[in-house]
Parts: sequence; structure tokens; C-alpha cells
Amino acid sequence: MRGNFITLEGGEGAGKSTQAGLLAAWLREQGTEVVETREPGGTPGADAIRALLLEDDVPLTATAEAHLFAAARADHVENLIRPALAEGKWVICDRFIDSTLAYQGAAGKMGVDTVRAINASAIGDTWPDLTLLLRTDGDTGTRRAIARDGAEIDRFTNREFAFHRAVAEAFDEFAATEPDRFAVIDGRNDIETVAQEIRSIVTERLK
Ligand SMILES: Nc1ncnc2c1ncn2[C@@H]1O[C@H](COP(=O)(O)OP(=O)(O)O)[C@@H](O)[C@H]1O
Ligand SMILES: [Mg+2]
Repeated sequence: MRGNFITLEGGEGAGKSTQAGLLAAWLREQGTEVVETREPGGTPGADAIRALLLEDDVPLTATAEAHLFAAARADHVENLIRPALAEGKWVICDRFIDSTLAYQGAAGKMGVDTVRAINASAIGDTWPDLTLLLRTDGDTGTRRAIARDGAEIDRFTNREFAFHRAVAEAFDEFAATEPDRFAVIDGRNDIETVAQEIRSIVTERLK
């Protein structure tokens, strides 16, 4: 039987990586085989592209950047996510298509439809079964990310408040458009409260 594919989405500092780890640990306790991964990256080819995308001194047009994210995703889906699901494993992915659609598409002004088209063949039929959207207000997420990273804030965190708000609004819109795939969670709550809510949602929707 095919495994379940769960993605976590939300702004920087929303708690995605924290909750991905807690969800994976909880599923493993129950005997579920879990593959934890993240985007951009997840395979050697995709990680190489990720490194290029995070270089501050490599100027890229928005279109070039969108194609690189899609190229990384194609490798990640084909070489890691799809085979794991076919083996019955569950895959938990920290950021996926919705981050690309929100950052490059909605907030980056490329347009969601253009970015979706660029990504369609990279994903094929491997859409998430469940997407957990962690919502925070901009300040909460940014403060957590700065505390976590010290001086090492990537360029997404450095972008202005309007950009983060556009991203947050895009995530909300995607969740409203696809309520069957998305679950919206208040990421401002403490870590254990959020984890418990996620466990309830996963139990209800996928078990
Ligand atoms: N619910 C929470 N309340 C308080 N701090 C949190 C919460 N979730 C995560 N954190 C902390 O905030 C920082 C950012 O969390 P992280 O999981 O790395 O966010 P993301 O992956 O979404 O950027 C980390 O230092 C983490 O320990
Ligand atoms: Mg993270």
C-alpha cells in the first residue's frame, strides 16, 4: 500500500522543522516507517541546486530561480519521495510546492499560475495527501528565526515585512481553495500544543 505524503508549510520560524521532527518521531513510535525530508534539497542533486539558490552573491532572475526550484523538486520527487511512498513509507517534507507558489509565485510577483505550470511536470501525480499550514503573525516567526539562527539569516528572512505578509496571505488563500488537502494550525501556541493538534489531524485524516 502506498504511504502517505505530508508537507509542512508556513513562514520562517513558524515551527515547521520542529513539528516535522516531532510528527516523524510519533509516527515511528507506532511502527510507521517515515522518511523525513525538506525542500529545497532532499537528494544530492537537489541539495546542489539548493546551495546555489541560497548563495547571496549569485544573481538570478525570478524565472531562473523558479526553474531551479522546480529542477530540484523533480529530482527530489523522482529519486526520493515517489519511491518511498511506493514502498509504503510515509514521507514528511518540510516545505514543498506551496512554498514555491507563495514565495516565487504570489509574493515574488511571477504569478501563481506561471509557477504552478513550471512545477507541474516536476510533481506529476505526487501531490501531498495532507499539507499542514502553520500560521504565525510575522513578528513571532521572525523573532524565532533570528533567535534560532543568530546572525545567519537567509535572504527570505531579510525581505521586508510586506513580502512576508504577501506570503502569509497566499498560504491562507491556498488553504481556503483546497480545504481537503490543507489543515490550518495556529503556530503561535506552544510546541506541545501544536504537536498534539497535528497528531489529532493526522489521526483523523490519514489513519
Ligand atoms: N510553538 C513554538 N513556540 C515557541 N518556539 C518555537 C515553537 N516552535 C518552534 N519554536 C522555536 O522557534 C525556532 C524556529 O522553529 P523552526 O521549527 O526552526 O521553524 P521553521 O522550520 O518553520 O522555520 C526554533 O528555535 C524553535 O525551537
Ligand atoms: Mg525550518
